[in-house]
Amino acid sequence: MLLHIENVLDAGQVAHARQRLDGADWADGRVTAGYQSARAKNNGQLAESDPLARELGALVLDALGRHPMFFAGALPRRIYPPLFNRYAGGQSFGFHVDNAIRYDRSLGEAQPVRTDLSATLFLSAPEEYDGGELVVEDTYGEHRVKLPAGDLVLYPGTSLHRVEPVVRGARVASFFWIQSFVRSPTQRRTLFELDLAIQQITGRVPDAPELVTLTGVYHNLLREWSDA
Ligand code: NI
Repeated sequence: MLLHIENVLDAGQVAHARQRLDGADWADGRVTAGYQSARAKNNGQLAESDPLARELGALVLDALGRHPMFFAGALPRRIYPPLFNRYAGGQSFGFHVDNAIRYDRSLGEAQPVRTDLSATLFLSAPEEYDGGELVVEDTYGEHRVKLPAGDLVLYPGTSLHRVEPVVRGARVASFFWIQSFVRSPTQRRTLFELDLAIQQITGRVPDAPELVTLTGVYHNLLREWSDA
């Protein structure tokens, strides 16, 4: 399941991030790539230790924490500190699968993060650049993703994906990985659909007695399936 999450950052936050990133020290993106993906990767990236990555990463994490759709879709247990990249001048990233485990060293001791979900938060508006679509392959074929600035796409960490060459302008984005409380994509999707249905019923018939049962079912499934 690909999930489009709108307005993670508002226009003011996007403008702030972009202004801070204008003077950023973009390094070769291959530093965080695994052996196979380094061969396919050609972009600029902020070093993980760059204070600007930490600063803007905190802004992104704070915004995610307030977004109910992100929580419902990802059921995040751990989030790898957001990274930032930039593609311009024909740069691209060929087909690859992200590393299964990443080590978050931001808090001292290395903390493993299983990459159940990958996320891209777009910081450039689609009209600012040509190309640069995130192409995600799943059993239904290819999905081409290019979202408004401030919007995020969540996609399964298991999927083959690539970034098309950016042939005009620049594509600036934040990207990161999420270890979910629920490892199975099917179970996560079931919980998400149940959560949405409960919210929709709540909106229409707030005092429907069945809501108590359905909410109980949701939490009991989450308890059963989560590996907290
Ligand atoms: Ni990737």
